[in-house]
Amino acid sequence: MAWHDDQARRDELYRDPYPLYERARRAEGLLYVPEFDAWLVARDRDVREVLLRAGDFSSANSLLPDVPLSKAALGVLPRGFGPRPTVVSADAEAHRRLRAPLNRGLSGARVAALMPYARACAGELVDGFAADGSAELVEAYARRLPGMVVGRLIGLDPADVPAAVHGGYRAEELLFRPLSPEGQAAAAEDVVALQHLLDGYVRERRVRPREDMCSVMVAALAPGDAELTVEQRHELVANLQNLLIAGFLTTSALIGTTLMHLLADDRRQWRMLRDDPSLIPAAVEEAARHDSAIQAFRRTTTRPVTLAGTELPAGVAVMVAYGSANRDEERYERPGEFDLTRSANRRHLGFGYGPHACPGSQLAREQLRLTLELFLRRMPELRPDPGRPRPRMQPTLIHRSPRALYVTW
Ligand code: HEM
Repeated sequence: MAWHDDQARRDELYRDPYPLYERARRAEGLLYVPEFDAWLVARDRDVREVLLRAGDFSSANSLLPDVPLSKAALGVLPRGFGPRPTVVSADAEAHRRLRAPLNRGLSGARVAALMPYARACAGELVDGFAADGSAELVEAYARRLPGMVVGRLIGLDPADVPAAVHGGYRAEELLFRPLSPEGQAAAAEDVVALQHLLDGYVRERRVRPREDMCSVMVAALAPGDAELTVEQRHELVANLQNLLIAGFLTTSALIGTTLMHLLADDRRQWRMLRDDPSLIPAAVEEAARHDSAIQAFRRTTTRPVTLAGTELPAGVAVMVAYGSANRDEERYERPGEFDLTRSANRRHLGFGYGPHACPGSQLAREQLRLTLELFLRRMPELRPDPGRPRPRMQPTLIHRSPRALYVTW
């Protein structure tokens, strides 16, 4: 019972963390939050400081699961690959090694080369429901496009993308949602299936490299052309799985949240955008700032440190809230308002900052941009479906998005 109460309280906090953030920004020093079992870093300048002091604030536990794994799930997972450190959880030299291929594979030129495919996929998705007059956009669009795009980036056969996307969502559920022991075991089976799928690509690209991220990662993390060792396969699969999940869940979330906010308040922002599409890039930045898809990641102190006047011993967790920094009233006027005419939002923290800053931010921005262009052109009369409930947020800090978005046009 107590556990359920805790879970319910945490879910509510995750659905609307903004009042807590506000309290933390006003507090002297840092605020300890028992639900997070961590000190909340809430002000823009403090968040930047932590993210830059990577030697003092380790990423080792940057993404701590919210739920313990059952025996049943722990029995299934060893049949898969990993767990191994990934770029998000590595520090210093190990981090630089894992990060280098991502910087290369997500360069401006590589992203630009992906965009015709992304546009074609987006157009086909919209063709699939345009004649219906109404749709639920999270399922019909937001959860689909980014998986197709990151699948292409990695080099997956389009036929494998639905299974890969499913495995990604199941991995998130396994680590962050309360499931029964059997439910966890079933989710673990799906994650193991995803890992075997990725391992197949890793081994194939070792023999026949292509122009894709999988080949770039194989070449960078396992130099040479000898047959991959089991350990190399573990590392490659863990990092490809991480890239896949980092690439699509976040972008799907932001597409849903952005459309939701544009259509809110009698569509004021949507109409503004329709009248002046040159505001689309500003809308993308404002969306990433105002209701950030990744609200917070963790860091752990590596030695005694003082932050915002609070003394922290070595080994304690801090929750670094990009989503709170982005609403810091010292930096933004009316920070809680979605306002696409805002000019000073370019340097928000929605994609992180410092050595771990998002290497995929350009790809995410481009997908959001093409989505807005597409919907403005194809469905200028887009509006919330009055016959359906108002959107409700998913209870999560890592892929903030509406559960569903019912619209008509
Ligand atoms: C709206 C979409 C996205 C948002 C809001 C987002 C946000 C972020 C944030 C806040 C971080 C920093 C984590 C930290 O400080 O530890 C990050 C890291 C990362 N992102 Fe993104 N991201 C998005 C899309 C993407 C895409 C499309 C990709 C790749 C295809 C990607 C790949 C990564 C990776 C690999 C990291 C880890 C980098 C490192 O630890 O060095 N992200 N992202």
